[in-house]
Amino acid sequence: MLAVQCLSQSKDDPLSGLAVHEVADPEVPDGWVRVDVRAAALNHHDLWSLRGVGLAADRLPMTLGCDAAGVTADGRQVVVHAVMGDPAAGGGDETLDPRRTLLSELHPGTLAEAVVVPARNVVPLPEGMSFEEAACFPTAWLTAYRMLTTRSGLDGPGTVLVQGAGGGVATAAIVLAKALGHRVLCTSRDATKRDQALGLGADLAVATGERLPEKVDVVVETVGRATWEHSLRSLRPGGRIVVSGATSGPDPSADLNRVFFLQLSVVGSTMGTRDELVALLDLVRGAGIRPTVDDVRPLADARVSFERLAEGTGFGKLVLTVP
Ligand SMILES: NC(=O)c1ccc[n+]([C@@H]2O[C@H](COP(=O)([O-])OP(=O)(O)OC[C@H]3O[C@@H](n4cnc5c(N)ncnc54)[C@H](OP(=O)(O)O)[C@@H]3O)[C@@H](O)[C@H]2O)c1
Repeated sequence: MLAVQCLSQSKDDPLSGLAVHEVADPEVPDGWVRVDVRAAALNHHDLWSLRGVGLAADRLPMTLGCDAAGVTADGRQVVVHAVMGDPAAGGGDETLDPRRTLLSELHPGTLAEAVVVPARNVVPLPEGMSFEEAACFPTAWLTAYRMLTTRSGLDGPGTVLVQGAGGGVATAAIVLAKALGHRVLCTSRDATKRDQALGLGADLAVATGERLPEKVDVVVETVGRATWEHSLRSLRPGGRIVVSGATSGPDPSADLNRVFFLQLSVVGSTMGTRDELVALLDLVRGAGIRPTVDDVRPLADARVSFERLAEGTGFGKLVLTVP
């Protein structure tokens, strides 16, 4: 079958290790299911893997990809859940299983004609949702959903700041925060992206680092060092930063004086559970939310999509399809 693989890793030239080629058909262990992929979507995670971050060199060659939707061998239309873990080992939450792994880290990922996953790692494709749309939700959108629900501490409408509005998690967070009834402020370095964020429903979009006209309850932080100080300064006393990424660097000043004096919380978040994926799909279907898709092309043309991902100029998901 055709698969998109990481053959070697390079920090400076990640695409040098990318191959789109034929690989052996996967075996299906007991308790696992084969999903014939109809659509898969790219994430920065795939680029990090090619750079040597998060994917151990001794796992190569590795089929890339976390996001997919497709059809099981017994004909069910499904969305693939990318987090492989045992809920019991994580106190009922597989993301907290110390042995948790994401597709394409230990087990072959979704950028292929077929992917094999534990039976619990598929959920029904919502009625009326296309494979291309569904493939956008399991990683960036699930991450944003868990940040805004389980991890935010918000149990009613609040005010949320989303940093780096152009990012995949950030765009999802803007749309979901509005669907959950929050007031949404966001930042971006780019005026066009600020306009696009307003188009997604944000109530206010300001330049990165610009002082906000009001304090917020929660910050959705994926940018890291470049926005951390602004995130801390933007919170009301008792407010909370939920952080799931650090694109611009992992080591800003902690500014502990501000953290304790204003009794702020800093909370980490990663991906989400199978139950959260089901709840997310319910929410987007009920609210009529459609993911922003930047580009759709056949799996065989995956290199072009990776070039676009590496350029970082797009707005929305890059989707690959298997006819
Ligand atoms: N923990 C998890 O489960 C999980 C899941 C998904 C992603 N992630 C991580 O979350 C991060 C975000 O990923 P993503 O794919 O959503 O987006 P991304 O493309 O990595 O970037 C996020 C945004 O950060 C802003 N940004 C980047 N560099 C910046 C800088 N130097 N100064 C100011 N702003 C900067 C940009 O926003 P503007 O251009 O709009 O300013 C960019 O669109 C990544 O590090 C990813 O690995 C984690």
